[in-house]
Amino acid sequence: MKQAARLARVEGRLIGLVPTMGALHEGHLSLVRAARKSATGAGLVVVSIFVNPKQFGPQEDFSEYPRAFEADKEKLAALGVDVVFAPSAAEMYPDGFRTSIHVEDLSVRLEGRSRPGHFAGVTTVVLKLLEIVQPQFAFFGRKDAQQARILRQMAADLNLDAEIVVCPIVREPDGLALSSRNAYLKPEERRAATALFRALDAARREIEAGETDALRLQTTLRRVLEAEPLAKTDYAGIADAETFEPVTRLHRTALALLAVHIGSTRLIDNMLIEPGKDGDGDFRASL
Ligand code: PAJ
Repeated sequence: MKQAARLARVEGRLIGLVPTMGALHEGHLSLVRAARKSATGAGLVVVSIFVNPKQFGPQEDFSEYPRAFEADKEKLAALGVDVVFAPSAAEMYPDGFRTSIHVEDLSVRLEGRSRPGHFAGVTTVVLKLLEIVQPQFAFFGRKDAQQARILRQMAADLNLDAEIVVCPIVREPDGLALSSRNAYLKPEERRAATALFRALDAARREIEAGETDALRLQTTLRRVLEAEPLAKTDYAGIADAETFEPVTRLHRTALALLAVHIGSTRLIDNMLIEPGKDGDGDFRASL
């Protein structure tokens, strides 16, 4: 992989990297299309597929996580991806591996509080991927908003050359955000899983009607989630998009963030809340 990337750089080709854990769906493929667009023409688009053991907790779904390498390769070939980089765990973490990357403070809130060590696993593997491929652009989804924010911080703090590009959330027609973990859902759970979107959409309507009290919006999120019998809320609230600290009143860009158990499947989703253009205290929300 390093050789192929080095050659591309010598030839003056821009490199775009899309890190994934495979079991690819339209959310992943939207990142690949964005990479294809930015690394225009002669660019090299690299997609990594690696189910990273370091970002799964001991009680989490590492062994069950869906793996579909052959189908993934076909999807990527159809999009004109140049390189699929799929290292083994032994290659990425040989015996004696000792290094861990930790982004302070952002990594211990919300998703990090529920999944201790998760973000250190993510930042460690993504830094390795960025070092191996050395792309000009690396593409991530806003589906994992906290992950994207932490990776941006890492890139800034460590003077990385790669620009971290964050792409919109791709959803099913009924609003459920695409996720490899949706494959775990039984039919009645799949129906219940729309509660995440319904909760965010209810808060969105209140924001569009002028609500700026974040605690009221949080109450709305929780009310919709509580009305769904198969859903058990891990967290549901409004956080500042920069610091991920809870906010009480909307005043700058924020996120409504949800983590919900549907049966034994844990799903996350979020909505971006941005100040309106005229700067008159109005906010608009994008799902
Ligand atoms: P994975 O869950 O496979 O997701 C890979 C990328 O696809 C992430 O940037 C994620 O935010 C994006 N993505 C997933 N679902 C999406 C959707 N519905 N719409 C838009 N983008 C979506 O995230 C990871 O893997 C790992 O943590 C990784 C960054 C690869 C490090 O191991």
